[in-house]
Amino acid sequence: MKKIQVSQTELKVSEIGLGLMRMNSLTDEEAKKVIQTAVDNGITFFDHADIYGGGESERIFGRAFSEMGIARDAVHVQSKTGIVPGKMYDFSKEHIIQSVEESLERLKVDYLDALLLHRPDTLVEPEEVAEAFDLLKQQGKVRYFGVSNQNPMQIELLKKYVKQPLVFNQLQMSVSHHPMIDAGLNVNRSNELSLDRDGSLLDYSRLHNMTIQPWSPFQAGNGNSGIVFDHPEYKELNVVIERMAEEKSVSREAIAIAWLLRHPAKMQPIIGSMNPERIAATAKASDVSMSRLEWYELYRSGGFQLP
Ligand SMILES: NC(=O)c1ccc[n+]([C@@H]2O[C@H](COP(=O)([O-])OP(=O)(O)OC[C@H]3O[C@@H](n4cnc5c(N)ncnc54)[C@H](OP(=O)(O)O)[C@@H]3O)[C@@H](O)[C@H]2O)c1
Repeated sequence: MKKIQVSQTELKVSEIGLGLMRMNSLTDEEAKKVIQTAVDNGITFFDHADIYGGGESERIFGRAFSEMGIARDAVHVQSKTGIVPGKMYDFSKEHIIQSVEESLERLKVDYLDALLLHRPDTLVEPEEVAEAFDLLKQQGKVRYFGVSNQNPMQIELLKKYVKQPLVFNQLQMSVSHHPMIDAGLNVNRSNELSLDRDGSLLDYSRLHNMTIQPWSPFQAGNGNSGIVFDHPEYKELNVVIERMAEEKSVSREAIAIAWLLRHPAKMQPIIGSMNPERIAATAKASDVSMSRLEWYELYRSGGFQLP
């Protein structure tokens, strides 16, 4: 598994991360197997959020990880804060600090390698975020900070006050769902794909050295659209994925992830499988080489015509 150097930090992380949003459905023994499989295959970056499974995902990971004898500094652990499910977003100083303290307790670790603000809070007072981040950094509870699902102007507003560098932005992206790329390929046109809904987020991230973490990298599109594999709306894309998987002797999942890794923005996809065989097979994406032509063939076969 290749590692990427996260800009603005001393973090060298596995280029594929494992998201634990679905870990709450596992027993402790199953969780250990998932963690061990990930580590054995070089996936040493784990993504959490305070709200996954109502805290249960972090709790199960914490119990499992603490009994496995894996050194804390052999892995990276990230969590998120800022959502109060079904009720509100909360970027207040008090909420951020309390959420981190509770995550650390559930995860049974002393520090997070990274903390992300999960979804934009329109009532954000960036001065409060700045104070919370400074305190957490000073106390050694969080090493680095970032955001998720935020656009460039929201990030700029935070950066006016927040002195800790914002190093990650976690955003939904897959081989069939990539509005950030579409808008950049369709500049000055009047078709649907030309709509720049995110404020040139991909180019902004590259310009400002923020690492994009594509979340739900197997999802076909927004919402509950199902996974891309065998999806009836992506027949041609599936044919190409299957052909490339065969040619390169890897799984379909590895091709879908290799497509994200091939982009020079040096993104870090966060996969969400809780199936050890699938995790091991997907990790092979790191060894897949993909030509420019193959990358564009996958893009085009998803129904995205080039201008
Ligand atoms: N920042 C955000 O707002 C945000 C939002 C959502 C998620 N996330 C993060 O992103 C991570 C990944 O999200 P995700 O779980 O939605 O991502 P995903 O990796 O796109 O999807 C994983 C799901 O797809 C299933 N799957 C994958 N390949 C399959 C196949 N060939 N056949 C059948 N099922 C297959 C997996 O089942 P198996 O378990 O059986 O493999 C699992 O249920 C989360 O854990 C979380 O850390 C972040």
